[in-house]
Amino acid sequence: MNQKSLIGIIGILLTLSIFMSFYSMIKIQDLENRFTSNFKESKDEEKHEEFELAEKMMYLQRYSEKLFFSGKQKNWELAEFYLEEMEETAEKVIKANQFEQGVNISAQMKEMLLPKIQELQEKVKQKNPQEFEKSYKAMLMNCNGCHMISKHGFIKILEPKQNNYFQEF
Ligand code: HEC
Repeated sequence: MNQKSLIGIIGILLTLSIFMSFYSMIKIQDLENRFTSNFKESKDEEKHEEFELAEKMMYLQRYSEKLFFSGKQKNWELAEFYLEEMEETAEKVIKANQFEQGVNISAQMKEMLLPKIQELQEKVKQKNPQEFEKSYKAMLMNCNGCHMISKHGFIKILEPKQNNYFQEF
């Protein structure tokens, strides 16, 4: 083997190794990208699971009961407060894009509960106890209506009977 062909072989080997190292750099970058995007996806899933619909329902139940007693006592200022709390809670569910048993709960919340809350706000402004009571009953029908369509018909909300809160209404 003469010197010229030896240099030639070394040259080919060098070019090959340069190509190989470029190739592996690209591969590593690719793997990194894949890892970080997987990580991001699982973060998004976590975020979705973090939203507890039942927890929001607990608040809706509590506020709607207190709203009932406020209305009964014609404490319109307090009734307005609980309606605002209910509206905020409903808005959170609407924003969270929640599905349950294939039913779009967020869309139904906007259709079924939000208008009833707004209707009650009107009655509170008018300070009309009879109208308030009517609208309250209609709202409860929609609470239960959504439970029915989302296959939770076994959760039936009734009008409160006795007040167990240590709070002035
Ligand atoms: C848009 C649909 C929808 C509306 C409107 C709705 N709910 Fe619900 N509710 C659900 C779903 C779905 C569940 C089951 C949640 C789960 O599986 O975690 C539920 C569960 C509940 C629970 C069981 C959780 C617990 O704390 O015991 C209560 C109570 C409840 N809702 C009360 C109410 C009240 C009160 C209203 C009206 C002021 C209301 N809901 C309106 C869909 C709705």
